[in-house]
Amino acid sequence: MEREKIIVIDFGGQYNQLIARRVRECNVYCEIYSYKTDIEKIKQLSPKGIILTGGPSSCYEENAATCSPDLFKLDIPVLGLCYGAQLMQLLLGGKVERATEREYGKTDINVDNSSALFAGVPEKTTCWMSHFDYISKIAPGFKVIATSANCPAAAVENPSEGLYGIQFHPEVLHTPEGTKMLYNFVRNICGCAGDWRMDSFVDESIERLRAHIGNGKVLCALSGGVDSSVAAVLLSRAVGKQLTCVFVDHGLLRKNEADEVEEIFGPAGSYDLNFVRVNAADRFYIKLAGVEEPEMKRKIIGEEFIRVFEEEAKKIGSVDFLVQGTIYPDVVESGLGGESAVIKSHHNVGGLPDYVDFKEIIEPLRNLFKDEVRKAGLELGIPEKLVFRQPFPGPGLGVRIIGDITAEKVRMVQDADAIYREEVDKAAAEYKNANGTEPDWMPNQYFAALTNMRSVGVMGDERTFDYAIALRAVKTIDFMTAESARIPWDVLDTVMSRIINEVRGVNRCLVDITSKPPGTIELE
Ligand code: XMP
Repeated sequence: MEREKIIVIDFGGQYNQLIARRVRECNVYCEIYSYKTDIEKIKQLSPKGIILTGGPSSCYEENAATCSPDLFKLDIPVLGLCYGAQLMQLLLGGKVERATEREYGKTDINVDNSSALFAGVPEKTTCWMSHFDYISKIAPGFKVIATSANCPAAAVENPSEGLYGIQFHPEVLHTPEGTKMLYNFVRNICGCAGDWRMDSFVDESIERLRAHIGNGKVLCALSGGVDSSVAAVLLSRAVGKQLTCVFVDHGLLRKNEADEVEEIFGPAGSYDLNFVRVNAADRFYIKLAGVEEPEMKRKIIGEEFIRVFEEEAKKIGSVDFLVQGTIYPDVVESGLGGESAVIKSHHNVGGLPDYVDFKEIIEPLRNLFKDEVRKAGLELGIPEKLVFRQPFPGPGLGVRIIGDITAEKVRMVQDADAIYREEVDKAAAEYKNANGTEPDWMPNQYFAALTNMRSVGVMGDERTFDYAIALRAVKTIDFMTAESARIPWDVLDTVMSRIINEVRGVNRCLVDITSKPPGTIELE
C-alpha cells in the first residue's frame, strides 16, 4: 500500500528539516526534495500536499530559485512558507518587493481564524518573522488571512484552489501556534489520516526486512550508539540469528561502556542475534602512539576500525547484507534529498569497509529523524539509558584528549568524565524532583576532556605536577551552533573536588565556556 505523504520542496532555507519534522509530529510522513526536482517526478510521488520552504534569495531576482507554475495546478494543496509564499504570489500574478526594513524576530499578528489554515488559533497571536521582502500585492483569487504591523499580507489563501501562503515561520517554536497551523494544513486541508506512527513503522519494517532478506546472512557494525542499536534490534526481530553484530571496542569508549553494550546485546542480553565483541584497544593505542594532530588521529581511528571490522567479517565469511544506521538527516545533508546541502565534516567511524564481501546494503532507518529513531527504539524495548544517551563521536575519546593518546590518559578522561556526568545527572534529577521540569541549565551534551596541560599543585604536603581536565557542557538544538550551559557553581565545585580526589594524575579542573562558533563542541 502506498503511504500517504507530504513533500517539502526545499529552497535552501535554514529550517527545512524542521518543517519535515513538524509535519511528522502530526503523524504524517513527509520527504524533502530540492526545488530543482522535475514536476513529473513530483506527480509520480503523488503527495497529498506540498510545502514550499523559505530560502535565502529574493524571488524576483534573476536566477532565483523557482519552481514550475504548474505546481499550483496539480489539484494538490500547496502551502508556501516565507520565500515559498512570496514565490507562489509572484508566479501567480502578485508582487513581491524589498521592504524598507527587515522584519525579524517575534511579531504580533492578527489572524482570520475562519480560514481552515488557522482553525482554533486565537485571533491575536505571535509568530517568528525573518524577511527582507514582502508581498506588496496579492495574486488574483487570493485574500489576506493574517496581518502584522509591518506586513499587510502576513498570510494569504485561495481555498478553492487549495493554495496557502504564510510569510512567517510556523515550524519554529517561537511561533507558539505554528504546529496547529501545520496540523490544519496536512490533516484538514490535505486530508491526511495521520498513519505515520512508530509502532506501525516497526511492525512494517520487520515484515519488509523479513521478506527482503529471506534466508540471507546479515552483518551489522554495532557501536552502542542509538542508530546502530535500533537498526540491529530491528534486524534481530526480523531475522534473528541470521544477523551477526560486530562490536569493536577501540579503547576510546566511555567508562564501562563496552561492558554495558555487551550486557544489552551479548549472550546474557535479551536479543536473539550473534554478538561478536572485539577488544582492540591495544591495536588502536599502538597505531595512535605519539600522534598529536587531531585530523590524523581521526583518520587512524577510522581506518583501524575498518581493518578490525573487515577481519571479523572475513571470519564470518561472505554475507548477503551489510546494515548501515544511516538516518534521514544524513540523506538530506549528503545532498540526496533537499537543497540545503551541508557537507558533513565528520566521517563516522564505521564508514564503508572496502573488502567486506556483501551483496547489498540495507539502511532500515534511512527515512527517520533522530527523535523518530528514539521512538522506534522505545517501541523495540531498547533500554531508555541507551535510547536517550547523549551524542558520542565515532572516534570516541580520541577527540577528547589533546596531544598524544595513551592508555593512562584514556583512563584519566574516562574516570573524570564518569564523575562529571554522574554529578550533573544527579543535580538535574534533584531539580526535576523539586520543580517538575528540567533545569534551564540542562546541557544537551556534557563531557570531560583532557587538556594535555600539566601544572603545579599541592596535595596534602606534596607538590604535584599533573594534568588539567576541562569540563565542557553545551546547549544546542542542531549541534551546528552551541552555547555553553551554565551549570551551577556548586555542582562544578563538587565535580572538581571529586575529580581531583578520585582521579590519579589530575590536579586541576577548568571550565570550557567557548561557544560554537568559534569553538567546536568537541575538544580536540
Ligand atoms: P563538533 O565538535 O564538530 O561536534 O562541534 C558536533 C557534534 O558532532 C559530534 N561529533 C561526531 N559525531 N562522528 C560522529 O558521529 C564524529 O566523528 C564526530 N565528531 C564530532 C559531537 O559530539 C557533537 O555532538
